[in-house]
Amino acid sequence: MKQEVPFSDVMLDTIERLKGKGILLVAGDLPNPMTIGWGTLGSIWNKQIFTVMVRPVRYTFGLMEEQSDFSVCILPEKYNKDLDLCGTQSSRDIDKFFACNFHAERCQRVDSFFIAESLYHFECRIIHKHYLNPETLDPAINKRFYPKLDYHMVYYGEILGIYR
Ligand SMILES: Cc1cc2nc3c(=O)[nH]c(=O)nc-3n(C[C@H](O)[C@H](O)[C@H](O)COP(=O)(O)O)c2cc1C
Repeated sequence: MKQEVPFSDVMLDTIERLKGKGILLVAGDLPNPMTIGWGTLGSIWNKQIFTVMVRPVRYTFGLMEEQSDFSVCILPEKYNKDLDLCGTQSSRDIDKFFACNFHAERCQRVDSFFIAESLYHFECRIIHKHYLNPETLDPAINKRFYPKLDYHMVYYGEILGIYR
């Protein structure tokens, strides 16, 4: 049984993993894991927030647009190869749950699923979203990261629970 843990217990670890091999964003009724390396944890509107950024070309983007929530799953190091797979292969082409031998379980506070093999996971409700605005983006970032003009959608997830 997963136990609820406070934000402060996992915040730094999550940020380190974002900068490292990445973590998994899981969305969809037929859940799809996608590796993410960009995101922020913080406090807005008196709520704890996890923002994630998804380019419209991703299969995950369509799932996020259909859903009102998502989970973010942090895996033990032994799954680093699976993080690579989920960050280089699209679920348009393969079944990532099958390829990684992951097991999906229903979240407690939202409709999404999480990966049972996770060390811990976040359950988030989408309370705001917007595309990055190139007009107000640092021109150097715009040039470096968006030569194809495929600006991320930024999703603001209210963290409803964190479970270990
Ligand atoms: C370490 C790492 C971090 C990544 N971070 C992001 C991210 O924050 N946002 C994003 O849209 N794609 C990111 N990607 C790319 C997606 O994970 C990748 O394109 C994936 O194959 C998309 O899967 P899907 O088509 O099944 O959604 C990252 C890839 C890696 C390897």
